[in-house]
Amino acid sequence: MGDKYKRMVEKKHYLHSSIFHPTLRDWQSLKSELTPSNFMYPVFIIENDNEVQAIPSMPGISRYGINKLKEHLQNVISKGLTSILVFGVIDSLAKDEQATNADSSQNPVIKALPKLRAWFPNLVIACDVCLCPYSSHGHCAILSENGTIDNPKSIKRIADIALSYAKAGAHIVAPSDMMDGRIGAIKTLLIENNLQNNVAVLSYTCKFASNFYGPFRDAAKSKPSFGDRKCYQLPPAGEGVAIRAAARDVEEGADMLMIKPIMAYMDVLKQVNDKYPEYPMFVYQVSGEYSMIYNAAEKGIFDLKAALLEILQSYRRAGADIIITYYTPLILEWIQLKHKL
Ligand code: PBG
Repeated sequence: MGDKYKRMVEKKHYLHSSIFHPTLRDWQSLKSELTPSNFMYPVFIIENDNEVQAIPSMPGISRYGINKLKEHLQNVISKGLTSILVFGVIDSLAKDEQATNADSSQNPVIKALPKLRAWFPNLVIACDVCLCPYSSHGHCAILSENGTIDNPKSIKRIADIALSYAKAGAHIVAPSDMMDGRIGAIKTLLIENNLQNNVAVLSYTCKFASNFYGPFRDAAKSKPSFGDRKCYQLPPAGEGVAIRAAARDVEEGADMLMIKPIMAYMDVLKQVNDKYPEYPMFVYQVSGEYSMIYNAAEKGIFDLKAALLEILQSYRRAGADIIITYYTPLILEWIQLKHKL
């Protein structure tokens, strides 16, 4: 026995003894375990109740009319789905400067909420709150005459929309606009309407001006008609301002925090989670991340299941409690299969 080997034995530097069996490997990974309640499924609801529209830039994902969504969700709920994030997409309804149809009686989300609540009493329903899918200019704000953001008008309108969704049955309102002060405006309005005990605010806290939203903007028909979103979404390298965004939203009363996208922002997740461990941390695996992984697997670069599980576990390891992902139905199936063994 050489000296080197002896030293190793003394120090007990053995790792294989912890990972030689699947159950032992699971025990090493329980802090990053993937269970059904770790997932939230984003869905797109359209005006025509009986239609399904495939989204070419997001293979495998569709927009659903409410009756079709019912069938789709029944299936996913049977696999363990606990929560959804709802987006409305309009075609024939008008888009205007005030985003009037974000919460008009014709809005597909407003119409869907009471039905979803009645059909799926145990399902938690979060609503994305934003102006861009409903505004004529495609921006997430009310603009003033000269094209700049009118902050007071924007946060008032965003809070009004959040209140409409809350009254229609949303458990969670999730503002994705990134306007300063919107969390406080929404919280205040919910309290004024005595809804503070029934509705949670999930803030898209660290939402970056990212290249990974492209397919979503096709899906939600929410591309800005001019300019970009760089003066309200965070600069990708802006670590400090991201941490300040979290502090701002915590101060204003957010109940839950989100990092979006995630793949290129895991350091931000870790920092925010370390700073606010008492808050549930959400991460959004966005449309571009979805499609990138899908296309890589199609090209044979890796096996979809093996690679996706590796990626998702890394988000959990870095501090994510809930992962918002278009892959949710597939993942729930895999979790179910694993536990059937
Ligand atoms: C709307 C919104 C966006 C996403 C969620 N809410 C797009 C954007 O900011 O342009 C992106 C989601 C995705 O890419 O999957 N403000």
